[in-house]
Amino acid sequence: MKSTMDFVEMKKNGEKITMLTAYDYPSARQAEAAGVDMILVGDSLGMTVLGYSSTVEVTLEDMIHHAKAARRGAPDTYIVVDMPFGTYHVSREEAVRNAIRLYQESGANAVKIEGAHLQQFVHQLVDAGIPVVGHLGLTPQSVGITGFRMQASSREEAAELIETLETFEALGVVMAVLEAIPADLAGKASAATKMPLIGIGAGVDTDGQVLVYHDVLKYGTGRPPKFVKQYADFDDAGIKAIRGYVSDVKDKIFPDEHTTYKKKVYEDENNG
Ligand code: KIV
Repeated sequence: MKSTMDFVEMKKNGEKITMLTAYDYPSARQAEAAGVDMILVGDSLGMTVLGYSSTVEVTLEDMIHHAKAARRGAPDTYIVVDMPFGTYHVSREEAVRNAIRLYQESGANAVKIEGAHLQQFVHQLVDAGIPVVGHLGLTPQSVGITGFRMQASSREEAAELIETLETFEALGVVMAVLEAIPADLAGKASAATKMPLIGIGAGVDTDGQVLVYHDVLKYGTGRPPKFVKQYADFDDAGIKAIRGYVSDVKDKIFPDEHTTYKKKVYEDENNG
């Protein structure tokens, strides 16, 4: 399994880091078999797997449950797990307790938190020995306020983002996700820190890329954002396969040669 030091080394050597979300045993298994460098058990789970309209309804229990399954599917891959909405803003004490629980019970290697104004919390987590991943730019847990649009588009906001990354690095944050920010800012941010920066909708100059499993495979999603590239059509393949099964059953083509238990219980009766 790669370590955070390996990711820093990859950044230093200019080798791009690949991250893909996975939320269960089979998706994590595929991600590991395909050789992704790390898996994110993201709270996008809410939309991709649980059918919610946002990440807001996802609970700590959901994240632990799914991260454990992903860990079983990808025992040799570095896994980052999201702290979901509402689990780290009520009080510092509760936030730290939730982070410890998530880290301890999920089997993940690091926890990801969204937002810039969490220095004290980050400090407490690092102090407790929990590897922390930051998430800046568009933070889906706050879309009720920001909307789904590009972030850090002014010089002031761009400077603030770079300043936050520098603070995160000084606090010991192991890496950060940058979502929906201008590509030139992402390149500048990457040059400003040794911390690996993983982009989504942030152009080519971040140190790695992350995409959502269901977007990459076109699996149960609607029209994806423009920054997504779809590499397969699981919806089409899945529906075609299930239609085939339905029609085989109706036409008595299945189970046919798939009938496993062929011992004849009533053979004598039939012959007599
Ligand atoms: O939850 C998630 O999938 C994420 C990615 C979009 C980075 O946070």
